[in-house]
Amino acid sequence: MGHIRAAKHQQLRAANVFRPLVCTIIMLMTLSFHVLASPSSASEYRGLLPHRMLAGRASNQSSSFLDVFQVSPPVLSPEDAPCEKTLMVHSFAFSYGKPFVGEYSPPSCDFNRVTFNFTVVSAGRQFDRLGLMYFNDTEVFRTSTAEPTATGIEWTYIKDMTNFLVLFKEPQKIIFDLGNLVNEIYTASFNATLTATFFTDNVASAPADVIIPISARQSANNAPSAFSLPGQNATNALTLPRNVKKAVFSISACGQAAEEFWWGNVPSSNLLTFPAMELSGYSPFRETQLYIDGMLAGVAWPFPVIFTGGVDPGFWRPVVGIDAFDLREDEIDVSAFLPVLCDGDEHTFEIRVAGISDDGYGHGSLTNTVGASWVVTGKIFLWLDASDWITTGSNLVRIDPHPALHISSSVSSLPNGTNVTLEYSVQVQRHLSLSSTIKTSEGSRVASWQQTLTFSNQGNYSDGGNLQINTQSTKGVDLSSLGYSRAYDYPLWATTAYAFYPDDAFTIGASIDRSKNVQTLGQLAFPSGLQTFGFEETIHPNLSPFSGTTTVNRQNGTATYTSIPSQSRSYSSGSTEQDLKFAGVEASLSDLQRGLPDVKGSTELYHRHVLAVNSSVVEDEESFSGQTFPIYHSSSTGNQDFAPLSLKYMLGRGPYGT
Ligand SMILES: *[C@@H]1O[C@H](CO)[C@@H](O)[C@H](O)[C@H]1NC(C)=O
Ligand SMILES: *[C@@H]1O[C@H](CO)[C@@H](O)[C@H](O)[C@H]1NC(C)=O
Ligand SMILES: *[C@@H]1O[C@H](CO)[C@@H](O)[C@H](O)[C@H]1NC(C)=O
Ligand SMILES: *[C@@H]1O[C@H](CO)[C@@H](O)[C@H](O)[C@H]1NC(C)=O
Ligand SMILES: *[C@@H]1O[C@H](CO)[C@@H](O)[C@H](O)[C@H]1NC(C)=O
Ligand SMILES: *[C@@H]1O[C@H](CO)[C@@H](O)[C@H](O)[C@H]1NC(C)=O
Ligand SMILES: *[C@@H]1O[C@H](CO)[C@@H](O)[C@H](O)[C@H]1NC(C)=O
Ligand SMILES: *[C@@H]1O[C@H](CO)[C@@H](O)[C@H](O)[C@H]1NC(C)=O
Ligand SMILES: *[C@@H]1O[C@H](CO)[C@@H](O)[C@H](O)[C@H]1NC(C)=O
Ligand SMILES: *[C@@H]1O[C@H](CO)[C@@H](O)[C@H](O)[C@H]1NC(C)=O
Repeated sequence: MGHIRAAKHQQLRAANVFRPLVCTIIMLMTLSFHVLASPSSASEYRGLLPHRMLAGRASNQSSSFLDVFQVSPPVLSPEDAPCEKTLMVHSFAFSYGKPFVGEYSPPSCDFNRVTFNFTVVSAGRQFDRLGLMYFNDTEVFRTSTAEPTATGIEWTYIKDMTNFLVLFKEPQKIIFDLGNLVNEIYTASFNATLTATFFTDNVASAPADVIIPISARQSANNAPSAFSLPGQNATNALTLPRNVKKAVFSISACGQAAEEFWWGNVPSSNLLTFPAMELSGYSPFRETQLYIDGMLAGVAWPFPVIFTGGVDPGFWRPVVGIDAFDLREDEIDVSAFLPVLCDGDEHTFEIRVAGISDDGYGHGSLTNTVGASWVVTGKIFLWLDASDWITTGSNLVRIDPHPALHISSSVSSLPNGTNVTLEYSVQVQRHLSLSSTIKTSEGSRVASWQQTLTFSNQGNYSDGGNLQINTQSTKGVDLSSLGYSRAYDYPLWATTAYAFYPDDAFTIGASIDRSKNVQTLGQLAFPSGLQTFGFEETIHPNLSPFSGTTTVNRQNGTATYTSIPSQSRSYSSGSTEQDLKFAGVEASLSDLQRGLPDVKGSTELYHRHVLAVNSSVVEDEESFSGQTFPIYHSSSTGNQDFAPLSLKYMLGRGPYGT
C-alpha cells in the first residue's frame, strides 16, 4: 500500500465571483494554484476551474475517523454560510419505531436556495440502515448509512434542497426515521447532524409553488409517512388548486428485505430449484407505476441501489455505492392531466410496484404482488398560473399498450434429479404516451409525456444456488413537451459465490461492474446540478450555454468477505474503482414531442476517479473543467473488520428491517 498519500487534503476555495451572464471572471485558489480567466463562449469554459463556492468536497480530516464518501458531482453551497440552521443533532441508537422529531421554522434571512449538510459519525459494529426524512407528511430526503469500523467512520453528504424551497418558507415538523438497534454485538449508534444553509443566487427556473405528498400522512402522530408495498395501498385522494400550469409527480422507492436485491430475483416458477436455498421471486424486473384516477400516468424503472452491506460489504468502504447516501427520485410530467386535475374535484394518485408472475412455461405478466417490501412515497410538484385562472383543455389521449414481456428459464439436472444450474432471461419493453392540449393564461399548448423503455436480465444460479451471475440492462428515454428529456442506461453485472464452513462460517467472493449513465435536458422538479458551475439551470438559453447535463458514473471491483460468527468476526478485502464524469450539454430543446433533442456538444465540468483497495483509498483525483487535483486521504489500517453478518442477512435483509 505504498501508494497511499498520507498528506493533507486539498482545499477548494472560490473568491471574487463576478459573473455578467456568460462572461465570467474567475479566480480560484487552492493551496498553490491561482487561475484567472475570462471566457466568452461555452467552449472556452473548457480548462477552467469552478468559480463557485463548493462545499462538501474533500475536507481536512479533523479526527482519526475514516472518511467515507459517495462520489457525486459537487453541490453549490457557500463555505462560510452566514445563514445556517441546525435541524437535527441526534444519536440513532435504539431507534426502531422512534424517529427523531423536531421543529423547523424559516430563518430570518432572504433566501432562494437551500442546501443540506448531513454529517454522521459512528464507531463500533453495525449494519447499514435506511433513513427517511420528512417535513410533516412529505418525504424530502432518503439516505442509507455506511457500516462503521471499531475506530470510527464519518461522512458528510451535501444535497441541494432548492426544489423544496416552498416547504422551507413555512414551519415544518421534522421527522427523521432511521431505525437502528444496539446490542452487545451490533454496538454502534449513528450520530447525525443535519444543517441547512440558506442563500440567494440567480435562479432561472423557479421551484414549485406547491408540493403535496402522496404518503401515509402520519406526521400528526409523530410517525414516518412511507407506505410499505405490497402490504399497503399507496393512494391519496387530493383536490388540487384550479390554476396549475405545470405538474410533476416524483416517486421515491426502494426495495428492502426480500426485495433488496430484486435485480437478482428469479422467475417465481423457479424458487425451489435448489432445496437448500429458497430464492426470491417475481423475476428481476421491477417497475414503479403512477396511477391517476385508476389510469396509468407514467412509470419509473428503478436504478438498482446497492446499500453498504449489499452483495459484499468489502466493496463499499470507504467508497459507498452509487446513490447510497442519496436515493434519487424519478420524475413524471403529469401536466397532460391538468384539464382533469384542475376541475375542482378530488382525484386519486396511487403508486404501485410491479414485478412479473410466470407459469414456468415462458408466459409472464405484470403483477402488483411482489415480495416484501418496497418503501414508497410520492409528491406532486405544482407551478401555479394567475390566481384567477382556471386551467382547462382537451381530453387526454393515451397510448399505453401492455408491455412486451419475454421470460424463459431452464434448469439442468443430474441423472439422479439434482438440479445443477438455473439459467433465465427476462426482457421487457414498454412505450407509453399521454397528451392533451392545456389552456394556460399564456395560451394553449400541447402537454405530452412519452416513455420508451427496455429491460433485460440474464441470470445464472449454480452450485446449489451458491454461485450467482446477473447481467442486467435498463434503458429508457422520457420526453416531455415542456422541453425536458431524460435518457438513461443502468447496466449491472454482478457475480457472487458463497462457500460454507463449520460453525456457520462462510465466505463471499464477488465481482461487480455497474453504471448509472443519465443525460437530462431541461428540468422538471429536481435541480440539474449546473448551478454549481455557475451556469443557470437549463431552459433559459440566455443564461446558460447548456440546456442539460450528462452523468457517466461507473463502479467496478472485486471483493471477498469472511464471516466467522462463532468468533463474532468478519473481515473483507478487495478493490473498488469509480469513475464519474459530469458534463454540460448544448442541445436544442425545441419541439421535443417529435423525439430526442438535437445534441450539439458537451463540455466536461467535473471528473472524479477513485480506487480503493482493502478499505483504503489509493488513488483519488478530481478534475474541474480539465484541471486535475489529487485528493489526499490519510492512510488507514485496521479498517477491514465488518459487522458479522448472518447468511440470512446477506440474502435479503435490508437496512430497514430488524
Ligand atoms: C458539514 O457539517 C459538519 C458537522 O456539522 C461540519 O463539520 C462540516 O464542516 C460541514 N461541511 C460543510 C462542507 O459545510
Ligand atoms: C489540517 O488540520 C491540521 C490540524 O488541525 C492542521 O495542522 C493542518 O494545517 C490542516 N491542513 C490543511 C491543509 O488545512
Ligand atoms: C454517539 O453518541 C453517543 C451518545 O451521545 C455517544 O455515547 C457515542 O460515543 C457517540 N459516538 C461517536 C462515534 O461519536
Ligand atoms: C407542518 O407542521 C408544522 C409544525 O407542526 C405546522 O405548523 C404546519 O402548519 C404544518 N404544515 C402543514 C401544511 O400542515
Ligand atoms: C387501492 O385503493 C384504491 C381505492 O382507494 C383502489 O382503486 C385500488 O385498486 C387499490 N390498489 C390496489 C393495488 O389494490
Ligand atoms: C429442480 O428445479 C425445479 C424448478 O426450477 C423444481 O421444481 C424441482 O423441484 C427441482 N428439483 C429438485 C430435485 O430439487
Ligand atoms: C446426485 O449425484 C451427485 C453427483 O454424483 C451427488 O453429489 C448427489 O449427492 C446425488 N444426489 C442425490 C439426491 O442422490
Ligand atoms: C451458468 O453457470 C455455469 C456454472 O458456472 C456455467 O457452466 C454455465 O455455462 C453458465 N451458463 C451461461 C449461459 O453462461
Ligand atoms: C475496472 O475495470 C477496468 C476495465 O474497464 C479494469 O482495468 C480495472 O482494473 C477494474 N477495476 C477494478 C478495481 O477491478
Ligand atoms: C488486501 O487484503 C488481502 C487479504 O488480506 C491481501 O491478500 C492483499 O494483498 C491486500 N492487498 C493490498 C494491495 O494490500
